[in-house]
Amino acid sequence: MRLRVRPVRRLAGEASVPGDKSISHRAALFGAIAEGLTEVQGFLEAEDCLRSLTAVEALGAEVTHKGPGHYRIAGVGLDGLREAPDVIDCGNSGTTARLLIGLVAGRPFWTFLTGDASLRSRPMKRVAEPLSRMGATIVGRADGTRLPLAIRGAAALRALTYELPVASAQVKSAVLLAGLSADGPVSVVEPAASRDHTERMLRQFGARLEVAGPTVTIRQGALTAGAVTVPGDISSAAFLLVAGLLVPDARVSVAGVGLNPTRTGILEVLQAMQARLRVVAEPPGEGEPLGTVTVETSALEPASVGGALVPRLIDEVPVLVVAAALARGRSEIRDAGELRVKESDRIAALARELSRMGARLEERPDGLLVEGGARLRGATVQSGGDHRVAMALAVAGLVADGETVIEDADCIATSFPRFAATLNALAGGEAVSAEA
Ligand code: S3P
Repeated sequence: MRLRVRPVRRLAGEASVPGDKSISHRAALFGAIAEGLTEVQGFLEAEDCLRSLTAVEALGAEVTHKGPGHYRIAGVGLDGLREAPDVIDCGNSGTTARLLIGLVAGRPFWTFLTGDASLRSRPMKRVAEPLSRMGATIVGRADGTRLPLAIRGAAALRALTYELPVASAQVKSAVLLAGLSADGPVSVVEPAASRDHTERMLRQFGARLEVAGPTVTIRQGALTAGAVTVPGDISSAAFLLVAGLLVPDARVSVAGVGLNPTRTGILEVLQAMQARLRVVAEPPGEGEPLGTVTVETSALEPASVGGALVPRLIDEVPVLVVAAALARGRSEIRDAGELRVKESDRIAALARELSRMGARLEERPDGLLVEGGARLRGATVQSGGDHRVAMALAVAGLVADGETVIEDADCIATSFPRFAATLNALAGGEAVSAEA
């Protein structure tokens, strides 16, 4: 499918975004190993998270679809998981693959995992290494560092203190999940804070988990099912918010969006760029923090992004680069080499595809230099099968001269199936259309 994007003069209204991808995955996976029924509302019904649901079904949990975004997961407890009858296909989803490896590392049976071409090229050593040290056997392609992988769990894993080489919530989560079956405390030390949805949900489910500065420690124990309400995904909202800042006559609100402080780096950077952006938080409740974010057309200043901020906005960099291309002056994104091992090499993809539209960017090993003040022109561009690159290019297309065609745009369905419809509702017409 290709997406045709026409420039728009106006965006107005309130939008909602689908459920948070990271939290939806965790509800599926943790619900399966908890004891009792986990009711999930606001689950992201997009390809990535549905992969996590089918994976836990293959491992013996029962999943019932109760209504839109509403699932009931009948948890079987850690000891109730059973060997899957076939290879589990994680599709495009790194979170499904990496968290599952941690989930089955302490189960005494074999699990076989694969994924699509993108996922099969992504690094898995980062999870295989600590889990092997704990006693799991992990073998597979490229010396056990790429999918397909086979995992033979150990009935009792060893305690471990593990310093993460990169800030990665997926690796942190995999080790913590394995820690539920370890014979002593398992600690993960992070170089910078990554998203903490795992810690929050495991605690809600009764795990013995402590956080002390950069160290998270978990102890063996059972989980008890609970109710999970998934907030809107700030990573999906970011595309609408940046569109609302760049389109000449715009006022866009996104309601019900997750505001977990480990995810709100994008809002802070946009504010530092002088964006007219207002956040109204809802009174704190049981679950993750959420609120409404409103933006208006703004003249943006350049951004400087690096260090501990990077993991707090890593998935928003593609759309941030579009904002930077239209800001006044030179922006810099550094310490973001992780972008090269996402669904695609996002540094290379952004530099290549946005240049086709007239943006001036310089690729760096760990980021990008972006000369602002570009006048974008419509072009035919390639998503490279990466949903966030595709949506960032669509936002660029909304403010380019002439029409933009984004090839290979089906991937948007991995995280934001109603992306085009949502933008069209804000534009009051057909700004974005899909064609076969
Ligand atoms: C995620 C963690 C991040 C993020 C990904 C989702 C998660 O990846 O980029 O989209 O749900 O834990 P890393 O753990 O590789 O940093």
